[in-house]
Parts: sequence; structure tokens; C-alpha cells
Amino acid sequence: MIKSGAKFIFFIGIIGLLTSCFDKSKPNYQYFPDMYEPVSYETYGEYEIFQEGQQAMEPVKESISRGWLPYDYEDNLDGYNLAKEELKNPVAYTEENYNKGSELYDIYCATCHGKKGNGKGYLVEREKILGVPSYDDAGRAITEGSVYHVIYHGINTMGSYASQMSNEELWLVTHYVMDLKTSLEGGESREFDKTREDKSQATE
Ligand code: HEC
Repeated sequence: MIKSGAKFIFFIGIIGLLTSCFDKSKPNYQYFPDMYEPVSYETYGEYEIFQEGQQAMEPVKESISRGWLPYDYEDNLDGYNLAKEELKNPVAYTEENYNKGSELYDIYCATCHGKKGNGKGYLVEREKILGVPSYDDAGRAITEGSVYHVIYHGINTMGSYASQMSNEELWLVTHYVMDLKTSLEGGESREFDKTREDKSQATE
């Protein structure tokens, strides 16, 4: 009886000794660290061997991310006029692209500009926004270049859509807006492009 009691106290003592040295603020022992500590360099690890001491590097200067292309026409009247005059749609006008453009238009533009592009969207009818023009407004005489410019940079109360759509999508909507303009003016609809190569480098 006494003997087993002494054993018990001894046992408790050992546990006490072991746990009292355990420091919670430090990592515990690792028995097989191979799985935790990779042999390869860690992405954001600090290593003297690399320039700036880190494995992850900044992109090469002037590199551009996928699906985004630099746009050189400035957000002012000169930029607008230049784009209006010379900028052309690089995306092929195919039936598939027409359908995609129409879908995007209904999502992003129709609330103000109306499904037909006559400037009488839902928000205009409810008098939530004023001054939305019809696409056949003769004073504006929009072109594919000016349409792209306007959705890229925004214009007065209309915001920019450059961060919501890819470059290719902006051009798809532009095709559709030009079609709405033509039909508002009572013009003939364009033939779909079967031969022209799609020069757009943009990915979705
Ligand atoms: C919140 C309402 C609203 C939405 C949504 C909107 N617009 Fe506009 N848009 C306007 C207003 C207001 C103007 C007139 C701005 C001005 O010139 O004062 C305008 C003007 C324009 C013009 C004529 C610009 C010029 O050259 O004079 C085009 C083209 C146009 N929008 C295209 C679009 C397209 C394409 C979309 C969808 C991607 C879109 N808008 C979404 C309100 C809107």
C-alpha cells in the first residue's frame, strides 16, 4: 500500500518536472521536421543568396498583367478626340461576339442607356439620373474609338468600366453600342465578319 503510494507520488513528480519546463510561447519539439521544413526555398522566405534577400521577386519593370493592355489615350478632351478619330476595334465582329456584347450591355449599360440605346433606361425613367444621351445623338457623333474611350475612362456622371470588364469585353460592348446606334438611325445591320482575324490579345 505504502509502496504503491510512493510510486504514485514519484510518477506525479516526473510529470510535474516534464511539464514545468514546457514554454508555451515557444514552438514545441519536432520529431520529424522533414515535412515541416521544406528543402526548397519558400516563396516569401528570406535568403541572402537572392537579390534583395527574398525569394519572391517583383515583376520585371514595365511588365503588364494578363488580360490587361496599356491604354495611351489620356482622360481629357484631347485624348477623347484622338481616340474618336483613330482608335479601331481589334475584336472580330462575329455572331458569337455580338451575342456576348449584347449580354454585357444588358448587364452594365441598359439600366441607364436603355435596351435600345435611346437613353431611356430604367434609372432614367425613374428620374434617378439625368442627361443620358441616345446613341444616335448627332451632336456627339460617337465612333467605336470614342465609345471605347468613354467606357474605359468614364465621362462626367458616367463611371469607368475598365476595372469591371476585361479589355476584350470592353471592345465587345463597343461593337454592340455601334449596332444600337445604327439601328436607332434606321441603318442596315452589319454583316458578321468571317475572314477578319481577331487581333485582340486579351484573355478573359
Ligand atoms: C449610371 C448610368 C450610366 C450607365 C450605367 C452607363 N452610362 Fe453611358 N452615359 C451616362 C451619362 C449620364 C452620359 C452622358 C455623360 C455626359 O457627357 O455628360 C453617358 C454617355 C455615354 C456615351 C456618349 C459619350 C460621348 O461620347 O459623348 C456612351 C457611348 C456611353 N455612355 C456608353 C455607355 C456604355 C457602353 C455603358 C456600359 C458599359 C454605359 N454607358 C453605362 C450614364 C450611364
